[in-house]
Amino acid sequence: MNILLLGSGGREHALAWKINQSHLCQKLFIAPGNAGTAQIGTNVPSLDPMYFGAVLQFVKSNHIDCVVIGPEAPLVEGIADYLKQYGGENLIVVGPTKVGAILEGSKDFSKRFMEANHIPTAAYRSFTSIQIKDALDYLDTIAPPYVLKADGLAAGKGVIICTGLEEAKKSLEEMLSGKFGKASNTVVIEEYLEGAEFSVFILTDANGHYVLLPEAKDYKRIGEGDTGPNTGGMGAVSPVPFVDNSMMQAVRKTIIEPTLKGLSGRGISYEGFIFFGLINHGGVPKVIEYNCRLGDPETEVILPRLEVDLLDLFVKMHQGKLYEAQVSFSPDVATTVMLVSKGYPGKYEKRKPMFIPSSDALYFHAGTTFIDGTNYTNGGRVLACTALGETIEEALDASYEMAEQVQFEGKTYRLDIGQDLMGS
Ligand code: AMP
Ligand code: GLY
Repeated sequence: MNILLLGSGGREHALAWKINQSHLCQKLFIAPGNAGTAQIGTNVPSLDPMYFGAVLQFVKSNHIDCVVIGPEAPLVEGIADYLKQYGGENLIVVGPTKVGAILEGSKDFSKRFMEANHIPTAAYRSFTSIQIKDALDYLDTIAPPYVLKADGLAAGKGVIICTGLEEAKKSLEEMLSGKFGKASNTVVIEEYLEGAEFSVFILTDANGHYVLLPEAKDYKRIGEGDTGPNTGGMGAVSPVPFVDNSMMQAVRKTIIEPTLKGLSGRGISYEGFIFFGLINHGGVPKVIEYNCRLGDPETEVILPRLEVDLLDLFVKMHQGKLYEAQVSFSPDVATTVMLVSKGYPGKYEKRKPMFIPSSDALYFHAGTTFIDGTNYTNGGRVLACTALGETIEEALDASYEMAEQVQFEGKTYRLDIGQDLMGS
């Protein structure tokens, strides 16, 4: 099979690495790709995943059999609808159509969906920009901390959590008057849930069958001890010790299965990944958010543990026969430590020359580019250092060893990835 993988992050490098191991993989193209994916397949730097016509033309002229869509933005804009409509029924498209991607594209929709399907989540109310006064009055009636969420996609920056009422009111006014553009025309105000977060991933087919992938824990804040602003993710660990069998059973019965039933009840045939952002709230798993794609950097720890041919899974997904898939996970622990540019998630500089040891170690490239024989930094999140071990301690030691060996000006990383899970 010829594959076109869309995206350019660490998630896509990990996907390319896994797809390339498949016995079905013939040609692998990554658009636009990064310096890591260039070592595995053929990058197509000029192909922008948001230009659906150009993507379709590439699919046709390169006899692509399967398109895997990494990031959410093209999905929310409807790339899967377009490729399915014009690419022919044999084209495998991994990623939901617009009506499915709205689970991530609109927080207001996802809250209404969860409410209608009795899926455990934080209590909420939604307000539009013409309801500013009602929204401010509502804040007066609830207890802190205040969780404010822009309805639409805001590149991971659309959630604001405030402890003070005045600060919350100011943020709410800013959001409803256009701080995130169209994305914050509607704002969800949500009950604050205490607890440890974790992420669960499935691949599902149009008939509502699904396979469960390994779960993971992400570290979202820039600073040690979970301080400072949110980032795309500074590290990840899989498996998550507190997610035992009974917790996973509860996730399946109260969250995954009602979600799939809710989708089919609305006539939405969903083919692709669903990422459930969850919180362990006093032993009860609740949904913080849905995403219509895999996580980054979670993918960099779940795919190395997945003992199955990924393209086989995509073929079964396309046939609507995912119930036939046998999926097993390695019992090893996988950890990843993300190296980022100095200043991220605020302003940072690009084009710093990099030294990356040449070895078999799993360095998954995120924001990198390769020019005239040299790797350069090319983004906020630069490189994910993934390692496997029999214990979390062993895996983390190896990830940190890898992190130390890489060099670039301004290299920044958290030293406490996985510390909260040690010894458990
Ligand atoms: P989201 O983009 O919805 O995943 O939110 C970003 C982050 O904000 C989450 O990973 C949580 O750490 C935090 N968060 C979101 N909603 C809540 C909530 N209701 N209670 C507590 N923390 C939350
Ligand atoms: N790591 C969180 C995300 O991919 O949204």
